[in-house]
Amino acid sequence: MPEIKIMPSILAADMGNLSGAALDSERAGADGLHIDVMDGHFVPNLSMGAGVVEALSRVTDIHMSVHLMITRPDRYADQFIKAGADTLLIHIESPCDVPGTLERIRDSGIRAGITLNPDTSITSIDKLLEANAVDEVLLMTVHPGFGGQDFINKVLSKMEDLRRLAPDLDISVDGGINIETAAQSAAHGANIFMAGSSLFSSPDMSSEIRKMRTAAAEAFRGCAA
Ligand code: DX5
Ligand code: ZN
Repeated sequence: MPEIKIMPSILAADMGNLSGAALDSERAGADGLHIDVMDGHFVPNLSMGAGVVEALSRVTDIHMSVHLMITRPDRYADQFIKAGADTLLIHIESPCDVPGTLERIRDSGIRAGITLNPDTSITSIDKLLEANAVDEVLLMTVHPGFGGQDFINKVLSKMEDLRRLAPDLDISVDGGINIETAAQSAAHGANIFMAGSSLFSSPDMSSEIRKMRTAAAEAFRGCAA
């Protein structure tokens, strides 16, 4: 059965102290760090690059899940692999050789994930699923580009359809995730939760992660039953 994992998204952390945010997340019991890379082209915002991933890999051993919201992930994947990413998530909407890039990521020995925007149908990844070409599918629950947005409810039915198609797959969600929306998503089949604002604005991240994990695990069991 897919494992429940909680990953703080450092886009919501203090940008002046990212290593502190990584260490706090590790101490708070997070299963990984979610690192958002934006190019100001694929999404209307800029964030961080491979240098940040490399710097964080020197201060922590926590799993680093890197989300590439960029037009040409094929051109940059190698940089992030070299920088220490453990999972590299690219978008199906990126206008490049997506299957080839996923293959290259996997061949390098790290996990490869495909991400879908809220309006993108799961039929767009039929072939990738058939070919068993991804380790994770990330369903965006906001339009990518900014933290602090509201969870889009209509993505819940997509989680359910995908879980039905792929019972053992890691299905992650990203955007507007808090204890309540994590539980809702888990009830519809998601098992990995990327959460920025809700975790970094909490006065006690470790208790927030614990509560999120318990709520999601309970709801996920209900969905599997
Ligand atoms: C959105 C990013 C998310 C974002 C989530 O484009 O991909 O990872 O950091 O932030 P919250 O949890 O605040 O919605
Ligand atoms: Zn993200």
